[in-house]
Amino acid sequence: MTNQPDSLATDPQRLATELTRAETGNAALQAQVQQRWYPSFHIAAKAGWINDPNGLSHFGGRYQVFFQHHPYSTAWGPMHWGHVSSENMVTWRREPIALAPTLEADRDGVFSGSAVTGDDGLLYAYYTGHRWSNGVNEDEGSDQVQCLATSADGVTFEKKGVVVEGPVELPNFRDPKVFREGETWYMVFGATSAEHRGQVWMYTSTDMLTWNFDCILFEDPDPDVFMLECPDFFKLGDHWVLIYCPMGVAKRGYESRNGHNAGYVVGNWEPGGEFEQLTDYRLIDWGHNFYAPQTFETADGRRVGYGWMGSFTLPLASQAEDGWAGQLTVPREFTLGPDLSLRNAPIAELEQLRGQERVLGALRLEPNESKTLLSGVGAYEFEVVLNLAESEAERIGFKVGLGADGSHAFIGHDDLSGRVFIDRRLTACDGGYRAAPAPDGDLLKLRVLVDRGSIEVFVNDGAESVTSFAFFGEGERELVLTAESGCAVIESITLWGLDSIWEN
Ligand code: FRU
Repeated sequence: MTNQPDSLATDPQRLATELTRAETGNAALQAQVQQRWYPSFHIAAKAGWINDPNGLSHFGGRYQVFFQHHPYSTAWGPMHWGHVSSENMVTWRREPIALAPTLEADRDGVFSGSAVTGDDGLLYAYYTGHRWSNGVNEDEGSDQVQCLATSADGVTFEKKGVVVEGPVELPNFRDPKVFREGETWYMVFGATSAEHRGQVWMYTSTDMLTWNFDCILFEDPDPDVFMLECPDFFKLGDHWVLIYCPMGVAKRGYESRNGHNAGYVVGNWEPGGEFEQLTDYRLIDWGHNFYAPQTFETADGRRVGYGWMGSFTLPLASQAEDGWAGQLTVPREFTLGPDLSLRNAPIAELEQLRGQERVLGALRLEPNESKTLLSGVGAYEFEVVLNLAESEAERIGFKVGLGADGSHAFIGHDDLSGRVFIDRRLTACDGGYRAAPAPDGDLLKLRVLVDRGSIEVFVNDGAESVTSFAFFGEGERELVLTAESGCAVIESITLWGLDSIWEN
């Protein structure tokens, strides 16, 4: 299969008109945005819906983050690419909306994709052009093709049209992730096979315009999985990591409890060869809201990525009343553990957001004792080392966002299940319990990032993570430490206020 670019695709005036319309529509929605849960140190749209991170890259001396965006409402709708950029991945500038549906091929959505710098110095953004087959909704499936748009400044794009036509009979064929190995460009994307199996397809190119089918890189061994959304494929140390989001996967104990779940396998791969899978599928993150992660390589060789915090299946409280829905996780560095597990932890730069520091040092709590650590707080971070060997408590936990009405999220370590949990059952407007396995050891380190409406917990410097929205009660919020049914021995606690990331 060879595909030539669709030369009749571009219509710069139409794109400019659609982007102006999108900005105007979004500005109207901004008037409705409420701050109570709106993120202070996470990327979100000024208003409206966002999902997957797209086009992560370093271009023109700045980090570029695009994202799936419906600028007109807080619900998923015809997709655009929203855009923010940063010099340092710490503070961010809001950029104009970058892409909107304008072609016949992307009539019903500019879906997810990735961006790389070409030899000509342009930014090449590959994305899926999406059309509903019946022109209205998903009932009769969709027609999906891979498209290209290029940019000289990273802000204004010119559409180049379709570069990979889908085999028309496949209902799902999307989310191109492009990378270079040697002189060859590779594109991986997710597909549903004729037999209804979830697959990752690979195409290659030498000129970034003409793409040839290379292989089916991976098929999910689970026969219930019918599509692998947002695959990402990259070398880490001596191995290759394949990240994907299996649709149709069954829940199992603590695993895959969300409507949409993201995981990975690790293996070996050489260009032209087959992917040799070395590990079973594992979740990347155990929380309620972690999906469609995408990574890129920084100039200094780190593998950095963002996930989408949101949900296609459970409406977020902010969607109904607050004029916005969805945020990205903080930027995280991905590394491989010696057991080939994928670790993820906030990038080192994030410490630059830290403001006032409070060192509490060692603490002992008697059975059922509680201690208020912070009052009237917004966005903050804390790091705690629990001595599990000396503690007797059944759960050592933190009431996060504790409001006057008693609502809060409870996070911490459950000694009975051996897990690190986020329990949202006592929050004002959402529920659910999620928990990651706690690594063995007498000491357990938790690093917790709390924004106005979300929590990210990192266990032992990134061995596991738990990421969830948590819509706390309104007004003054406290952070309270408590030891349930036994004493808690804590080696150290340090807390920091966190600054906002926004420059504009
Ligand atoms: C995953 C996803 C992608 C698609 C995009 C559409 O969250 O469904 O597969 O490209 O979102 O918004």
